Amino acid sequence: MMLEAPQRFESYGAVTIYDLVKVLELDASNRRSFHGIVTIDDEVFNDIAANTAIIVPIKDEELFTLEGVISAIPHGSLVIIVSASSREPVDRYRHELDLAKIIHQTTRRGILVLHQKDQAWIEALADTPLELMLEGESVRSGKGEGMLLGVIAAAALGYRYVGFIDSDNYVPGAVHEYARIYYAGFHLLETEYPMVRIKWPFKGKLASSDMYLRRRGRVSRITNRILNTALSRIRKVETDIIKTGNSGEHALSVKLALSIKWASGYAVEPYQLVYLLEECFIKAGKGECPSLPHHVKILQAEARNPHIHAEKGDEHINSMIAKSLGTIYYSSLADDRVKAEIMETLEQYSTGLKPVPPRIYDPRGIDPVKVFSSFMAASNESILYEEG
Ligand code: GDP
Ligand code: CO
Repeated sequence: MMLEAPQRFESYGAVTIYDLVKVLELDASNRRSFHGIVTIDDEVFNDIAANTAIIVPIKDEELFTLEGVISAIPHGSLVIIVSASSREPVDRYRHELDLAKIIHQTTRRGILVLHQKDQAWIEALADTPLELMLEGESVRSGKGEGMLLGVIAAAALGYRYVGFIDSDNYVPGAVHEYARIYYAGFHLLETEYPMVRIKWPFKGKLASSDMYLRRRGRVSRITNRILNTALSRIRKVETDIIKTGNSGEHALSVKLALSIKWASGYAVEPYQLVYLLEECFIKAGKGECPSLPHHVKILQAEARNPHIHAEKGDEHINSMIAKSLGTIYYSSLADDRVKAEIMETLEQYSTGLKPVPPRIYDPRGIDPVKVFSSFMAASNESILYEEG
């Protein structure tokens, strides 16, 4: 792979955010890097892939799409499917388990499949810092919750990095590119606290025949604008550095993942930025910045493949906007002007829409091995297929 070298950056306290870099060639193994350009060799990819678990959250998506996603994740990385799919009237999770089994039997790749609503989480998470994730018979619903369970599994199994890839990606080629961008980012950032966030060049939905390729998602366009306004007002220097506010496709080290707080549901992606900026920039040395004295480094990379996924209608979009902007509204990044801009934006989108305060989980101090082994011991419906 050949990428523009990450060079231009802005620093906010101990958070370094690189300006967007583009993928220049999908395959440029064993070619020389030169000024402004970096190439990453297959040996590097293979090495990092073996240390990375790719977490795929899924909730009632089509099975053929999931199959395409798994087929595109490099063989060396463990796939962790965290499902919140329905069990009745049709047991969709059973189908996901069966699919994983068939894939493992044919390809011998490593796959872990677990369900977010498994009752085995109750004992595993009780009396831990993540007890707040429990509700009723199991873990609360939400994408952020599912992602965090995946992180715990990856940590327990000894992985150094995790990357997230949505299960509703219709284009396997895009998934393959995302994974390789993660590996490239970890290699280039050379830090224990890396984060890689992907911006797709175009996005489209497949549900209807009139496919339209948008340059930016309807939610990320808004989240990016408000985050940039907030940063500009704090520093009194205008910036448009944030280009991946809602990046579902992102990756980070397990060490970083377990030392930051997480937000529930769809607030998860913007909250990572909000949390790091609050703790490592606004609060200066007085916050909980995990990386000190080092920087958290955030690489934003633009993929070549368009992001074609299942788009889920206006109600879904509106609720995502309210949750995304809620992470900023209820943070110390927002002054009165930013709060007013958030309210105006929500009003424009849908009358009566209000910023939603994020529900926050703090995994710090958790013992992943203990939680995960307790979970696996009590679960009847999770399965770990090891590679080979
Ligand atoms: P969008 O692409 O940002 O509009 O959001 P999606 O609705 O496509 O969700 C992103 C991914 O998260 C998809 O793969 C969903 O199947 C998955 N997902 C959504 N909600 C949940 C949840 O509550 N738990 C889990 N484990 N996955 C979820
Ligand atoms: Co989607």
